[in-house]
Amino acid sequence: MINIGLLGFGTVGSGVYELITNYKALKNHTDEEVVISKILIKDLSKKRNSKVPKELFTDNFREVVNNPQIDIIIEAISGFNPAYTFLVESLERGKHVVTANKAVVAKHLKSLLALAEKNHKGFFFEASVGGGIPIIKPLKHHSAFNEMKEVKGILNGTSNFILTQMNDNDLTFEGALTLAQQLGYAETDPSDDIKGYDVRRKLAILSSIAFKKQVSEEMITCRGIDYVTSFDMSIFKTMDCTVKLLGKAINSNNRVSASVEPVLMKNDSSLSKIKNACNLISVTGNIVGELQFVGEGAGKNPTANAIICDVIDILGETYKHDNLLSKRLDSTVTIQHVASKYYVRLSPYNYNYKGTLVKALEEKSWIKKVLSYDKDIVLFTEKLSLIELEENIQHLKFMYKSSCYVRLEEDIEIKA
Ligand code: NAP
Ligand code: HSE
Repeated sequence: MINIGLLGFGTVGSGVYELITNYKALKNHTDEEVVISKILIKDLSKKRNSKVPKELFTDNFREVVNNPQIDIIIEAISGFNPAYTFLVESLERGKHVVTANKAVVAKHLKSLLALAEKNHKGFFFEASVGGGIPIIKPLKHHSAFNEMKEVKGILNGTSNFILTQMNDNDLTFEGALTLAQQLGYAETDPSDDIKGYDVRRKLAILSSIAFKKQVSEEMITCRGIDYVTSFDMSIFKTMDCTVKLLGKAINSNNRVSASVEPVLMKNDSSLSKIKNACNLISVTGNIVGELQFVGEGAGKNPTANAIICDVIDILGETYKHDNLLSKRLDSTVTIQHVASKYYVRLSPYNYNYKGTLVKALEEKSWIKKVLSYDKDIVLFTEKLSLIELEENIQHLKFMYKSSCYVRLEEDIEIKA
């Protein structure tokens, strides 16, 4: 019998339990019976809508990690700590580990892989990026012999769901977020989703594997969708464009540029057509060219499915080669900033400020076009880096109460 210790029984953990116990998803991959023999949760008194035998639950990690019968630990608990400590301890105690925790993987990929290798165990994290999309495994394979040049994509289901609902169904930002939470897409703290931190973690993981360099979260410029309003959406519609939260990393002669930001793209682009919680991940290598991976990027079943695929790899012992990835991760990386054109919306405090602002902006050489609306000002910039844009806007800050800037894809033309 193969015993699994499951850490967490929320959206993802309950999905894993159902696939293994009720759906018998692993029955064709081993002659032995696979059972979940302990489930770690935080609050034993919480009412749970499931038929799981009560004795499986514990709030004591020791009962899981000290159990010599347990071979595999699946971690699906929220937050960085204590998850990180649990993962380290599980590997040290000679367990195989599968995790959905991008916060931990983005920070400690190299050391966790090295620890797994030292203990001759597998460390798998397919569910940490792209929900049900198989991306980690193909990327590990391709980056072993391709020079990967670019990794980009829509990497967060919650923010894509919000933008789709605002655009297609006229939902408010708050209404769409509440719905995403009810559907199990959002993080415990949804700021991770809407401020871009979740995409930043996923991009750090993908670009580290792709470029064989340790790209840390802190190196990645990050802005989310929390400033995009229904007014901005109405302007984008008149331009036949769609806004998406895009993570993008480019490796050019060993200099990496990486950003997470809202990007405006034409309605007929392949990324614009990715709706709701779907993700699209594109990777480009020198030999294989561009590969695109599309699928459900969040939610119970897709994420649990990715975890089951990792368990299958443990049962098939493929990890013996995969752990070598830790040796390929170089710690030197140089970051560069790329210039782009931007859409900027400023919402002045009052009518007087609006007039003064329009006048001041019309004189700026970095601005291509200024448009004045009832309460807001919209401007389109010439090409400049995000740092330059922020510096240029900063000294006008006393005149406006909120702002939103969105990068324009190269093929969007603004006439003066
Ligand atoms: P969730 O629904 O909030 O469930 C979290 C689970 O973790 C709960 O069962 C909770 O116990 C348990 N937990 C939290 N802190 C704990 C602690 N200190 N000790 C023991 N148990 C603890 O979260 P989720 O959506 O399933 O996400 C779990 C992980 O998967 C996160 O790392 C998330 O980023 C990642 N992930 C989620 C998705 C998705 O679509 N939801 C997709 C990919 C990856 P109680 O039940 O007692 O509260
Ligand atoms: N909160 C994440 C998302 C879960 O919405 O994409 C999947 O990683």
